[in-house]
Amino acid sequence: GIDPNFDSNREQVGTENGVDVWGPVDPPEKLGIHGTHVAVDYDICIADGACLENCPVDVFTWVDTPDHPESERKVEPTYEDQCIDCMLCVDICPVDAIDVDAS
Ligand code: SF4
Ligand code: F3S
Repeated sequence: GIDPNFDSNREQVGTENGVDVWGPVDPPEKLGIHGTHVAVDYDICIADGACLENCPVDVFTWVDTPDHPESERKVEPTYEDQCIDCMLCVDICPVDAIDVDAS
């Protein structure tokens, strides 16, 4: 699953769609972690979609990631500033791709 200490163990390498991206990034195979308060490890996400479908405040949007080995789309935590820390997405993701820093 996602490293919950990614913000100390990784470098922020830029932003995409308004959210932080934490490296290493080497597209199309390595896409890093997207977001900070709500963080999605793009290299683990398999596009299950349960997070996006069930988030009560619609934090996530789909983005296309052609030629990534795990899935051809991922969820961007585009509206992470609206997160209410319910932890549903963390609990429901089948591959533990999401970390929410509720502290
Ligand atoms: Fe949405 Fe809850 Fe996940 Fe925040 S913790 S992104 S509100 S499902
Ligand atoms: Fe990806 Fe997990 Fe959501 S696989 S689409 S982060 S439920």
